[in-house]
Amino acid sequence: DVTSRYLIVSNRLPITAVVENGNLELKASTGGLATALKQVFGEDNATWIGWPGETGALMRKAREQLEDGLEKAGMVPVYLAAKQVERFYEGFSNGVLWPLFHYLLDTVRSDAGRDWEAYREVNEKFAEAVVAVYKPGDRIWVQDYQLCLVPGMLRKRLPQASIGFFLHIPFPASGVFRILPWRREILQGLLGADLIGFHTFSYARQFSSCLLRILGLESNVDTVTHDGRLVRIGAFPISIDTEHFETASAHPEVTAKAEEIRHHHPGCKILVGVDRLDYTKGLKRRVLAIEHLLEKHPELAGKFKFIQAAVPSRAGVEAYKQLRKQIDELVGRVNGRFSTISWSPVQYLYRGLDGHELLGLYRAADVMLVTPLRDGMNLVAKEFVACRHDDDGVLVLSEFAGAAWEMGEAIIVNPYNEDELADAMHRALTMDEPERRFRMQRLRKRVRDWTVHEWVRQFDQALTLVTTENAAWH
Ligand code: UDP
Ligand code: G6P
Repeated sequence: DVTSRYLIVSNRLPITAVVENGNLELKASTGGLATALKQVFGEDNATWIGWPGETGALMRKAREQLEDGLEKAGMVPVYLAAKQVERFYEGFSNGVLWPLFHYLLDTVRSDAGRDWEAYREVNEKFAEAVVAVYKPGDRIWVQDYQLCLVPGMLRKRLPQASIGFFLHIPFPASGVFRILPWRREILQGLLGADLIGFHTFSYARQFSSCLLRILGLESNVDTVTHDGRLVRIGAFPISIDTEHFETASAHPEVTAKAEEIRHHHPGCKILVGVDRLDYTKGLKRRVLAIEHLLEKHPELAGKFKFIQAAVPSRAGVEAYKQLRKQIDELVGRVNGRFSTISWSPVQYLYRGLDGHELLGLYRAADVMLVTPLRDGMNLVAKEFVACRHDDDGVLVLSEFAGAAWEMGEAIIVNPYNEDELADAMHRALTMDEPERRFRMQRLRKRVRDWTVHEWVRQFDQALTLVTTENAAWH
């Protein structure tokens, strides 16, 4: 029988198993991919295939409980052995591809030969899991950098299948991508898809330029012919379920949270940052810019509070361990230097937030600081705007976030320029109300007009089109 189900394939499932003392707890996963997609795909229209997190320590009973929970949610688990977590997830995906695609070349590991083997092996494992549940008519959507080889592996086994791939992080310029010893294999893996989607035209163009320079494949506007099939390349900026955030942020408990936050900092303007603790997010430079702001404007002492929530992430990877230490030290230094008995500039939280806290922070913020060094899109920026029913609040946004292409009314900054960043903070803190409203209203309209539902619709239409063309060819 022919179905029209989606098979969503992502390394991280939207729920993660957390094991404490052998007991199981299921938590909502952190990160843009999970938040965006879980609003669209549920057990009624999709089967989700992915990793439920580290489950090695689970007792038999807890494992049965996990399998039961996943099955009810329409999810098919791909379990990773401890060595695979170390080599595929930490070593290659997050030790090589993640820093490389975000242009942080010093962080790219150069001893990753073994990890590459594990990357290939785990990609095979995902492909097999897809083949095991595939039915003719299914549309397969492979997500993100951890699974670049899956489209090619699937194409060999399911030549007629409709396969889409979407990259949730930037695609770098060819001069940077070429650094990767396995550049040909990665490109060829991606070309197994019918449609390859990126957040921006710039990423899509850079991908096409890699196809030309590395594989000698010339693309014709937005298609390339490979192995007797058409592959379409396109820009599909991801977004959020705006209505969900609008409704959820109006909840009385969120209002109470926002008031509580403001109440705790009387007479202070509130600056907020919310990020996974990741070196791409520009946290160090953000804290340094706060220090610089206080050097340039001593009159601001006691007049603002910067609340930074950093959600623990990839804590097994060395670069993330180092970053954690560095941020601890930096925050300590800045607070030590500028605090008085009754005030300190930075309040730093190293933990995940619950839904009400997160939305409460968005609503309490006078200024939202989204200043990554690189970011594929950045959904925090869009969520902040969606939550501002009061049409107030200023967004300071890095020009190196994909979101900057759509959110021009933010104060756009270069996060590598400390002086510019401090000035942007000052400008945001002192902006008058009419200007704040003018900018926020336009930003809000944008996230209302382009939601994750439009993103899915456009990607789906494009995928259907190219799959039909390919079917007609054969
Ligand atoms: N988020 C979360 N838990 C938290 C704080 C934030 O799940 O404690 C979510 C946030 O709502 C957003 C996502 O994490 O949807 C971060 O996505 P973004 O695109 O900004 O960055 P990413 O983490 O994917 O690099
Ligand atoms: C980013 C990536 C996702 C990833 C998420 C959280 O959003 O694009 O693929 O799931 O970060 O990272 P983690 O390593 O915990 O899955």
